[in-house]
Amino acid sequence: MAKFYVTTPIYYVNDVPHIGHAYTTVAADILARFNRLLGKEVFFLTGTDEHGQKVQKAASERGLTPREYADRMVENFRGLWKRLNISNDAFIRTTDGEHVRVVQEVLQTLYDRGEIVKRPYRGWYCVPDERFWTGKEIVDGNCPECGRPVEELEEENYFFLMSRYRERLIRHIEDNPGYILPETRRNEVMGFLTSRELGDLCISRPRKRLSWGIPLPFDEDYVTYVWFDALLNYYSATRYLAPPSGRGWWPAEHHIVGKDILTTHAVYWSTMLMALGMELPGNIFAHGWCTVEGRKMSKSLGNVVDPLEVIDRYGVDAFRYFLFREVPFGLDGDFSADALVARINSDLANDLGNLVSRSVTMTRRYFGGEVPEPTGVEAEAKGLAEGLLERVRRRMERLAFQKALEEIWTLVAYLNKYIDTNQPWALSRDPSKRDRLGTVIYTVLEGVRFLAVHLRPFMPGSSEEICRQLGLDGPVEDLAGLRWGGLKPGTRLPKPRPLFPRIKPGEPPAGGEGPEGRSLIGIDDFAKLELRVGRVSRAERIKGSDKLLRLEVDLGETRQIVAGIGRAYEPEDLVGKRVVVVANLRPARLMGVESRGMLLAAGEGDELSLITPEREVGEGTRVR
Ligand code: MSP
Repeated sequence: MAKFYVTTPIYYVNDVPHIGHAYTTVAADILARFNRLLGKEVFFLTGTDEHGQKVQKAASERGLTPREYADRMVENFRGLWKRLNISNDAFIRTTDGEHVRVVQEVLQTLYDRGEIVKRPYRGWYCVPDERFWTGKEIVDGNCPECGRPVEELEEENYFFLMSRYRERLIRHIEDNPGYILPETRRNEVMGFLTSRELGDLCISRPRKRLSWGIPLPFDEDYVTYVWFDALLNYYSATRYLAPPSGRGWWPAEHHIVGKDILTTHAVYWSTMLMALGMELPGNIFAHGWCTVEGRKMSKSLGNVVDPLEVIDRYGVDAFRYFLFREVPFGLDGDFSADALVARINSDLANDLGNLVSRSVTMTRRYFGGEVPEPTGVEAEAKGLAEGLLERVRRRMERLAFQKALEEIWTLVAYLNKYIDTNQPWALSRDPSKRDRLGTVIYTVLEGVRFLAVHLRPFMPGSSEEICRQLGLDGPVEDLAGLRWGGLKPGTRLPKPRPLFPRIKPGEPPAGGEGPEGRSLIGIDDFAKLELRVGRVSRAERIKGSDKLLRLEVDLGETRQIVAGIGRAYEPEDLVGKRVVVVANLRPARLMGVESRGMLLAAGEGDELSLITPEREVGEGTRVR
């Protein structure tokens, strides 16, 4: 059996995941699922990058060890992947003991072979940011990131002799046109390699400046540079996380990365593998950037889109579909709620959803809900359906997800048109056309089955639901074995459910609220909110929940409020604190405890900070 190994970057564990991270991971998931359906043995790896300055700093600010902090933050990623229906086979963390051992083993090997040497290193150091810049990077003697003055510093460090591999790397890229894709990115890497000297790579950090890293096995005064450690995850995972496989899992078929980290992969990682005498991966694919309503996503612009919110409002599969239908994989793409709603309404509700519901409804109406026996084979429909796999496969080999979806939609469009042309409703009125009606309905249902299977990698949940509506249970057939005529006459179809309800433009879908930034409110809307300053007089944990606290808050009168801040605050730290309360909120019960109001806090997930007035103000004072 052919093997297929695909990876995502390992994400910085201190980040809260956003749609950019989701984008990469869903892409890898689509590939993994597609290749499983082709009958390959698949290993799909994702994970988190947990060493380095930022993690160390964030942890110490919270009074946690870096590992404790990472243990909490990693759940954000795991939770999101679950909600997004990601089918990863393993999840690697660079703090795993096994990974650390592989990194040290590799360092020792390279050191013993003379591929790593110690040299003086000169650079510009930003003390508050605790990081080095090169002379080219600094701006008028200041740190390019924070703008504060930098100082020139010289220290000894270990270097991986990357420059030795420049020629070989250029040749490899020339000889293997699919090594770096898309082609524009490949050309950029070639430009980078051919237009200048390739330097050596500093792979150590003195432990006195950075302690949260993997110690160099040959010099305990240093830890490993995070990127050197991180890139090795792709290999170390094959040593302890991959299922046993006769041929071994290395090399990977695809590394999927964002364009921001192409150089580290195409240059650092490739040359590291060369120095180790290991095979290079089959392909490094650098996709484009997700922007939001035309702008770069950033915390300071406040436009970071939380994938969980999008899923809650529009559904996982609509989101997965949108990400890969709207823009060719490789180019930058824009996310906006309006564009998403437009796609849901046209492609999903109108084209696909309608097709499924029409075919099931007609089967119920004309054949009592049982798949009819066809009296002939519709050659055109059969040809189109059976030819789909080849066309989709060709697109998927180049990671052209958008084109693959377009191919699938040609069958959606064909079947909708087939219904309109054959007018089953007219056939049903003429008893002599009963056989023809059976063939027409069978053809549509069988076509829908082909669609469900081809859609499985992109929209796994909806694909399953379509199969359920066709009365099929059990695992979906593998793609290669899919044959026209597989749907058995006589199969009973259960009651259908709408797959993708239409969303009125400008209105939130049922049960949700307007996506961020879409619905502006007037001052009178704001006036409906009664915000008041309160003072916490009692606080205790609610049994059975690590998140919920029962508070008594003095607003002039005493209120019982249940607040979800138990992972951010200890009850005893809250007593006496001034807080801002939404005072006219309808009462609610949480874990059986009544809550009359809500505290305001800023932040995401468990990283919450209570809002408190900056000066002394009395209990019950209105906030406006
Ligand atoms: N830890 C490194 C990667 C090490 S891999 C050996 C890192 N992590 S990261 O958390 O910053 O994630 C980087 C990846 O997230 C990008 O390469 C890209 O795949 C994805 N994205 C992050 N922001 C993105 C967008 N705005 N748009 C699209 N993808 C983006 O770098």
